Amino acid sequence: MSFPQNFLWGASTAAHQIEGNNVNSDWWAREHGNLPGAPSVEQPSGDAADSFTRYPEDMRLLRDAGLNSYRFSVEWARIEPEPKFFSLAMIDHYRRMIDTARDLGLTPMVTLHHFTNPIWFARDVTWNDPRAVDHFARYVQRILPLLEDVELVCTINEPNMLATIMAPANEGWSGIGIPPGDAQITEHLISAHQFATALVRSVGKKAGWSIATQAYIPEPGFEAEADAHASSREDVFLDASRGDDWVGIQAYTRTRIGADGPMPIPDGAETTLTGWEFYPGALEYGIRRSWERNGVPIYVTENGVATADDSRRIAYTQGALEGVSAALSDGVDVRGYLHWSALDNYEWGSYTPTFGLIGWDRSTFARYPKPSLAWLGQVARRNGLAPSVFE
Ligand code: BGC
Repeated sequence: MSFPQNFLWGASTAAHQIEGNNVNSDWWAREHGNLPGAPSVEQPSGDAADSFTRYPEDMRLLRDAGLNSYRFSVEWARIEPEPKFFSLAMIDHYRRMIDTARDLGLTPMVTLHHFTNPIWFARDVTWNDPRAVDHFARYVQRILPLLEDVELVCTINEPNMLATIMAPANEGWSGIGIPPGDAQITEHLISAHQFATALVRSVGKKAGWSIATQAYIPEPGFEAEADAHASSREDVFLDASRGDDWVGIQAYTRTRIGADGPMPIPDGAETTLTGWEFYPGALEYGIRRSWERNGVPIYVTENGVATADDSRRIAYTQGALEGVSAALSDGVDVRGYLHWSALDNYEWGSYTPTFGLIGWDRSTFARYPKPSLAWLGQVARRNGLAPSVFE
């Protein structure tokens, strides 16, 4: 199974999950009980993987393994810690990250918003408020010079998850799967994406956003239920991607839909450290759904598995890539695969679910690349996938 020329092979991260000490962000405040109303977390992020200082080593490990791309996010809370106060030093920091990636021969893909907001934004604005769009656009406008050597810009990571997680009506949700998307937050996120896209394009760069596809797979006869379920949770965002330069597809597991909506994980199915079903086919499902709805070129911007058994990570990724290859054979325009994640990281409340191709020591921060990194690097070097040796 070979892949198109110039296919991007890489790994993804998000600032808050690996940098450490992201003290001006709403997540940090929440982790320390300083964000009124926000649910508490199991563990705070603390120093995380200290990738804020160790990013050159992290990128070098990816490059040395054979990968050719790195997706990371720039942190709004560091760049604009108070409204309209922009830190030139932080902008410079991210500039150095982009330069480092380029010098190593890694194509950078830069995400402008990956779940976290500055504390002031979370306290006084939030995505429920139409003013959110102006605040986000002002931030994007300000960092445009940073993007000079970046071709692929991801405006917002998983707007569909933001629209469900942040909806006040969904607090305390106890149903299976994720709650419905909030219409107002959805509208604001779509506008924010459109403003950001226009700005990114004005400096000649390619804009897209990344959608969490959930593979809402209907049981026979329940296609209409699956479509209804996907509508606010996924499809509205895939549809809003029409006309973009590219779309990011992120996939981890499936949700089967029956007469009463989402069904529990089948008995006896393998599950992962996040409690999700081990289901590599989710990626192909998400890719095909996106392609049918918007026809926009696709980058897989996240796909991976939380496991302590690295051989299952390789098996999962092999299965997912077989799905990418099948979609490519049918003419779907997939241009890259960026694995989640480069490093074990802060999984939004806990360090237990390990998604990384690279592990690290919690007290010394020493990096330990896992066999899965060497494996993915070899796939990248060959630009091809050998038949599976795994079940
Ligand atoms: C997010 C990541 C997260 C991953 C695994 C995606 O929802 O973009 O930040 O760590 O999935 O849960």
